[in-house]
Amino acid sequence: MDLYNQIFENNKKWISEKKANDGNFFEHLAEGQNPEILYIGCSDSRVTAEDMTGIQPGQMFVHRNIANLVPNNDNNSAAVIEYAIDQLKVKHVVVCGHYNCGGVRAAMQAKDLGILNPWLRNIRDIYRLYKDELNLIADEKLRYNHLVELNVKEQCINVIKMAVFQKSFLENGFPNVHGWVFDIHTGELKDLQIDFFKALQDIKEIYDLGTGNSK
Ligand code: CO
Repeated sequence: MDLYNQIFENNKKWISEKKANDGNFFEHLAEGQNPEILYIGCSDSRVTAEDMTGIQPGQMFVHRNIANLVPNNDNNSAAVIEYAIDQLKVKHVVVCGHYNCGGVRAAMQAKDLGILNPWLRNIRDIYRLYKDELNLIADEKLRYNHLVELNVKEQCINVIKMAVFQKSFLENGFPNVHGWVFDIHTGELKDLQIDFFKALQDIKEIYDLGTGNSK
């Protein structure tokens, strides 16, 4: 059986397994979702959001695109973040990058990639922002890994630039923002321990949208 047709067999098996554990699994699922986490990750087929985290249906709102970006003018990721924070009231927003990211690698190369050019330019801009720091790393692989991490950090900062985040954080004290990197070589998920309170203070002067002054 080819992979495509295997999917429907897998689905039948999955339904029986879920029902075996909880007879009312799908009735509960149909009632609604209350995810605590918004996960923003790469579309890379090797970096599964739910499987690698052991997350069950209903627990995590997921957005994936090439190189886990949150560009300032991207309506797609902005709508996901707005909905997750404002309506679903998620407690955590995670941006998860991964080593060996083809998107990040492509942005380090002198190559015309058509429609991907403006998308990956977001990563080239990060390279420019951290050029001195990155160029001190002689080993290309280590430099590439560091750019993966800096990309995660900058996408977290893009989340905290948004009014919907600032408003919720000032009113409710959440969501917290976390930067992760998935290591494809080991399967390990690493929390980059980005101090987002500090990041928030650092950028406040420039990106403050006055959401705290509106009441
Ligand atoms: Co990737």
